[in-house]
Amino acid sequence: MTELQSHPINLGDWDPHVFEAHGQELLRMIRDHFEHIRDLPVTSDISPKELIGLFDKPLPEKPEPFSSTLDETWSKVIPHLTHWNHPSFHAYFSISASFPGILADLLISSLNVNAMVWQSAPAASALETVVLRWMAEMIGYPPSEDGVLINGASLATFYALAAARDLHSDLNVRTEGLTGRTIPRLRLYTSDQAHSSVDKAAIALGIGTQNVVRVPTDENYRLIPAKLEETIQSDLQRGYRPMAVVATVGTTATGAADPVTPVSNICQRHGIWLHIDAAYGGFWNLVPEVRKNAEDLSLGDSVVVNPHKCLYTPLEVTALYCRRKDALANTFRLVPEYLQTVKKDGSIDYMDFSLQLGRSFRALKLWWVIRSFGREGLADRMQESLRLARWLASEVDKHPDFICPATSPFALVCLRYVPQSIQAAWKQATEEQRAALRQYVDQLNKKLLARLNESGSTFASHGVIRDGYMIRISIGNIHTTEDDIQKLWQMLQELGSKVRENLPSPLEQ
Ligand SMILES: Cc1ncc(COP(=O)(O)O)c(C=O)c1O
Repeated sequence: MTELQSHPINLGDWDPHVFEAHGQELLRMIRDHFEHIRDLPVTSDISPKELIGLFDKPLPEKPEPFSSTLDETWSKVIPHLTHWNHPSFHAYFSISASFPGILADLLISSLNVNAMVWQSAPAASALETVVLRWMAEMIGYPPSEDGVLINGASLATFYALAAARDLHSDLNVRTEGLTGRTIPRLRLYTSDQAHSSVDKAAIALGIGTQNVVRVPTDENYRLIPAKLEETIQSDLQRGYRPMAVVATVGTTATGAADPVTPVSNICQRHGIWLHIDAAYGGFWNLVPEVRKNAEDLSLGDSVVVNPHKCLYTPLEVTALYCRRKDALANTFRLVPEYLQTVKKDGSIDYMDFSLQLGRSFRALKLWWVIRSFGREGLADRMQESLRLARWLASEVDKHPDFICPATSPFALVCLRYVPQSIQAAWKQATEEQRAALRQYVDQLNKKLLARLNESGSTFASHGVIRDGYMIRISIGNIHTTEDDIQKLWQMLQELGSKVRENLPSPLEQ
């Protein structure tokens, strides 16, 4: 037997003590980052070319000291990020990685378990079962139904709609596919405010965007059930096959909630799958004053909620629930020989509920966050965001030069800068004059948002609704305070006056 020669240099990982020392230094830097986060611009306006140039070095051949990598991370990476965890981040939907969630991510990577099947990660699968139940209770979905943690709401909608499609067992799409044969035209219904992930799911499922029917919404941007019924009837007469309705609780533009009960009645009457996209709105059910008037999520055959949006848990974690027993597994269960395991009573193989095989230990961060704050602590924090949003909305309403073009039951404020003189002129204006006024107000608001974001003090985003271009302020970061929102309101007013000075209105021309 030849003797095995040791490699001349140490090929292993860092010594655990070196890891600990670097880890302590990193934690110190993260603490400092949070202590001074308000001094940091929320966004960076460096050009892509310049930014890539900062990092565009030859592939490192030799090891570099970690301290220099860490230093460059702080000097070059962090200043050029959009800081989603900043208390003044109000764009899209404001989110938070809370400290217990951040620490959990460190442990998740340290353990690096793969929660494919029960055997590959028993405690990860057990915790997934438990946190799914806890969150179902929080949102008002039956806790014993099927559920799975995945990486985002877009994929959740895709998975739910795949299961809805396969429920049409006469079509046998899972085995025979969609090509090379004639099958009825499958139709999806959703509101004109629903997220683009519904269209993406239709693309990926072979249903096609032409078969996504966008149902009109009312003055509050909620789907109109009578229009849904009308559309379904007309499709049935044409021989089309209604496959699913997607209702939204917390629409992306205005945070509206579709009327789930009448929509569910229509679905039940026609035997259509109801998927509820509650990615943003679902966890607001934790707040008693929201829950009192909330839509009933338990009516959904499937429901998606995003703990990485509202539940203070770092990206990426989404929960998909499905009360059609085994429907997700009937679509996605496919077990090759090497993954065959002996089933134990109560074991769940979470790979059966989605396309993803390798799955990180997402449940741990939810378990830590939920236990660290408790249901009450989570609800209190969300309630505070809601209080700040209500305060801002009331200030906007009182101001002569601003309006709220839409209201949300959640902590999202939609506003539009419309100088009083324009509001007065609008009342007397002809259709043609109104078009010019609207265009002017759109320009004002685009400029206002651009100036606001250029300031670096905050970051907000926009939406376009029937009234036109509007600014959205989403409030939900765990560190956001009353003072932050007061300063933001002050800036909006000051910048509103400034952009108006530089943009002559149609009334002055
Ligand atoms: C209502 C709604 N649904 C779905 C999504 C997609 O979420 P994700 O980024 O988790 O795929 C979003 C994104 O903001 C959303 O606003």
